[in-house]
Amino acid sequence: MFRGLSHVAIAVPDLAAAAAQLEKAYGLKAGKVMENEAQGIRLAYVDLGNSRIELMEPTREDSPLASFLAKNPKGGLHHVSLYVDDVAVSLDELAGRGVSLIGEGRIGRNAHGDPIAFVHPKSFLGALLEVEQVPADRN
Ligand code: CO
Repeated sequence: MFRGLSHVAIAVPDLAAAAAQLEKAYGLKAGKVMENEAQGIRLAYVDLGNSRIELMEPTREDSPLASFLAKNPKGGLHHVSLYVDDVAVSLDELAGRGVSLIGEGRIGRNAHGDPIAFVHPKSFLGALLEVEQVPADRN
């Protein structure tokens, strides 16, 4: 079902400061800043060639990411994202195996418009899992 690692996402209180720190200390360059209105986040990807690091900061106080940062004020690892061919098919299969899905498997969109959904941490070893539908030729 899973084709590989899309990205690892880190929640940060200040996106510009986080990007500057990654570049200064590690030579890792964040790409253009995008906004995902529905999720209430502003984000940028650091392209690593075969995967990415997603940096995200909340854009509003009722964003789920804002509550994560309230618990982790300095930021921290937020989710792992894996590629699938078809998010709806994958969610059905996972639910059939008893996996808990966030929002009963509600399918949203990432900043590129690709379908995404989330698996509850209680069903993925304590980590939040994002399932991302991207065509195989775009990995
Ligand atoms: Co993500």
